[in-house]
Amino acid sequence: MMRHGRLGILALSALALAGCNGIQSPLDPGGPQAQDLARLFWTFTAVLAAIWLAVMVALGFSLRRRRPADADPLATDPARERRFTAVVAGLSVATGVTVLGLTGLSYATQKRLFTVEPEAVSIRITGHQWWWEVRYEEPDASRTFTTANEIHVPVGQPVKVKLNSADVIHSFWVPSLMGKQDLIPGRENDISFVTERPGIYRGQCAEFCGFQHAHMGILVVAEPQDAFDRWRNAQIKAANPPSDPEREKGQQAFLSKPCIMCHTVRGTPASGKVGPELTHVASRWYLAAGTLPMSRGNLAAWIIDPHGIKPGVNMPLIKLEPDELNAIAAFLEGLK
Ligand code: CUA
Repeated sequence: MMRHGRLGILALSALALAGCNGIQSPLDPGGPQAQDLARLFWTFTAVLAAIWLAVMVALGFSLRRRRPADADPLATDPARERRFTAVVAGLSVATGVTVLGLTGLSYATQKRLFTVEPEAVSIRITGHQWWWEVRYEEPDASRTFTTANEIHVPVGQPVKVKLNSADVIHSFWVPSLMGKQDLIPGRENDISFVTERPGIYRGQCAEFCGFQHAHMGILVVAEPQDAFDRWRNAQIKAANPPSDPEREKGQQAFLSKPCIMCHTVRGTPASGKVGPELTHVASRWYLAAGTLPMSRGNLAAWIIDPHGIKPGVNMPLIKLEPDELNAIAAFLEGLK
């Protein structure tokens, strides 16, 4: 029994620690802002754990102390009373100092989080039920473009993200990189961050925003400056023209269906603004805001059954013949 108990504790601690690293953990920081937050977390944990331990030890001692059986329960000892008063007063002051100290630390960290150097990359993110509209802004309008659900950033460069919402309140949170910031309709918030190493970080909407709140993921791809420049230059371009007859057929089918009422594919007449931009949809890692890995099969599955995969989603079901479905999936898969 004892052995099982120990094994259980071991398994539980392993499980708990497994949450401390990975692509979506505030305890596995990928940049200075997340490091500040992780440091704050560990400081709070250490101080509070030490206080809890001290209280438990003191409690243990006092429970073990016994009064002699014949002692008068109402008798008081003035010297002892004075000692107790001093101890209680001292501990009250210590509590105040600890709380003030932790508040000061928290305030200093927050101040550092919001003083980031002028940004090298400026991104505007608009929250939708349930996906992220992403706009890369530049003073030169011809270099501004829109994408969705995945942002790329150059390693080591400050990135500023401006946030607002098209419908309800969402919250932008990439735990390995920064704290949370809300996306509020009719109001602009912002948050800045720097990444320290190349990698992929996963973010998640952190404010309950309806049925598919859990399927509102975002990916941050941090890459060296030259890779980022290549990505940005590719995203600015219009969509690749279909490279084979099937994709050609798929494009025609796509353009003849209501798909174009909601989606934009730059370089074609499709210019809807309701759903995610699809100009380079196949260059992304995931489909439907982190719900499915990108592949031709999943593109087809998503088009044929959006409500089975993400119940409540706004994407309507479009009637398609099987060969049209395959052709459209092939066309979309060509949009790298
Ligand atoms: Cu958007 Cu939760």
